[in-house]
Amino acid sequence: MSDFEIRTLDTEEHRAVSNLFRETVHMPPSDDAEWVYAARYYQPGGALGAFDPELIGTARLFDAELTVPGGARRPTVGVTSVGVRADRTRRGVLRALMTAQLEDCAARGVVFANLLASEAGIYGRFGYGLATRCRSYRVDARRARLRPDAPAGGDLELLDLDRALEVCPGVYDGLERRPGMMSRPEVLWRLYEMQLRRHTTPAKAVVHHGPGGPDGFAVYHVEGATAHPWTTTLEVSDLFAGSATAYAGLWRFLLGIDLVDRVAAESRPLDDPIELLLADHRSGKVEGISDEHWLRLVDVGEALSARAYGHADPVVVEVTDPLLPGNSGAYLITPDGAGRTDRPAGLRMDVTTLAMIYLGTWTPSALADAGRIEVRDPAAPAAADLLFGTRVAAWSGSYF
Ligand SMILES: CC(C)(COP(=O)(O)OP(=O)(O)OC[C@H]1O[C@@H](n2cnc3c(N)ncnc32)[C@H](O)[C@@H]1OP(=O)(O)O)[C@@H](O)C(=O)NCCC(=O)NCCS
Repeated sequence: MSDFEIRTLDTEEHRAVSNLFRETVHMPPSDDAEWVYAARYYQPGGALGAFDPELIGTARLFDAELTVPGGARRPTVGVTSVGVRADRTRRGVLRALMTAQLEDCAARGVVFANLLASEAGIYGRFGYGLATRCRSYRVDARRARLRPDAPAGGDLELLDLDRALEVCPGVYDGLERRPGMMSRPEVLWRLYEMQLRRHTTPAKAVVHHGPGGPDGFAVYHVEGATAHPWTTTLEVSDLFAGSATAYAGLWRFLLGIDLVDRVAAESRPLDDPIELLLADHRSGKVEGISDEHWLRLVDVGEALSARAYGHADPVVVEVTDPLLPGNSGAYLITPDGAGRTDRPAGLRMDVTTLAMIYLGTWTPSALADAGRIEVRDPAAPAAADLLFGTRVAAWSGSYF
C-alpha cells in the first residue's frame, strides 16, 4: 500500500495526531486530564496528516521567531509531532509530509524551520542541519560555593507555578537573545505548563530583579525528597539571564537552597559560564554534550541577508537545495551583508551544511576537512570561518 493523501487537520483531529505520534515514540496516549493541557500546545491549522484512508502519519508546527547572529529576528516554525505508523514506514510518508510542510512555509514567507530530532539520521535529507548543541551540567550543591568576586546579584522573588506561568513569559520576551534562541509563543508555554504540572513535587520559579526590572529567571523542581536518607536533585528546566549579575544571582540562589544535594541543569549553552563562578570548579561537572536544534533555511537569501558577519575577505558560497530549488545558487558573503551573485564560488555546499554553519556552531573549515564542503578557493574556508563565527555559542534553550 503506497497511496496516501496529505491534508491539514482540523482542531477536532488534534487528539488523533497526539495519539499517533505518541504511539510512534512508544508512549501511551494522553489521558483526559493531560489532554486538557496538551490540546493547548496545538496551533490551529498547524498539523498535517497522511491518510490511506486512516491517519498513518503526522507532522505539525507552530509559528515563532528565530534570533540570528547580530540579533535580528526572522519568522521560523517549530516542527514537532513527527511520526509515521509502524506498519506504514519506509514508503515515503515522512518525505511527503516534510515536502508539503516546507513548501507551505516557503509560500508563507517563513525563513527558517527548527526541530529536535529523535534520531540523527532522519532530517539531513530534508535540508535540516544540526545547528545548536548543548551540554548538561551537575553541581554538587553541598560542596559548591560561588567565588567571592562573583557578582552578588539583585533581588530575587520566589513564585509558585501558577504565578510563574504568568510572569516568566514576559521576562523571557524582554531578554536579549543568543543566536538560535526562539520566541516562545503561547502554545510553547502551554507545553511547559503540562510538563511542569506532571511533576509529583511542586515546580517553582525564581525571578531576578536588576536595576531596570526583571532580567532573568529559573524554573526548577526538586526530585528525591521521598524517604530518608534523602538524596535530592534540584532539576533546572529553564534558566535565562539578561546580565552577568542576573546569571550569578540565580545560581547563587539555586545553590543555596536547603536540603538539596545536587543541582542538575540540562541543555545549557556550550559556553555557559557556571564553572567560572564556582570557587572549586570541580564541584560541578559536564555530564554530556548533545544535539539541540536542527535548523532548516527555508529562504536562504533572506536568512543570509538577515545575519551579521565577522570581518574577513568576502567569500562566494554556492548552495544546492534539491527540495526547495529556488534556494540553489551563489551568494556573496561580506562583512557588510550577503546577497545573490554571479561570481564564481569559493565554497560549494548543500543547504543542510549551510544550516550547520549558519549560527556559528560548526566552522566551514571543519566541514571542509570532513568532506562536507567543496573548496574551490583555498583561501575561502579561513575567511568563511571568520565571517560566520559568532561571539557567543548559538543555543536555543527551548525544548518541544
Ligand atoms: C522517522 C519516521 C517519521 C520516518 O517515516 P517514514 O515514512 O518511514 O520515512 P520515509 O519513508 O518518508 O523516508 C524518507 C527517507 O528517510 C529515511 N529514513 C526514515 N526514517 C529514518 C530513520 N529513522 N533513520 C534514518 N533514515 C530514515 C528513509 O530511508 C528514506 O530515505 P531515502 O530518502 O534515502 O529514500 C518514522 O520512522 C517514525 O515515525 N519513527 C518513530 C518516531 C520518530 O522518531 N519520529 C521523529 C520524531 S523527531
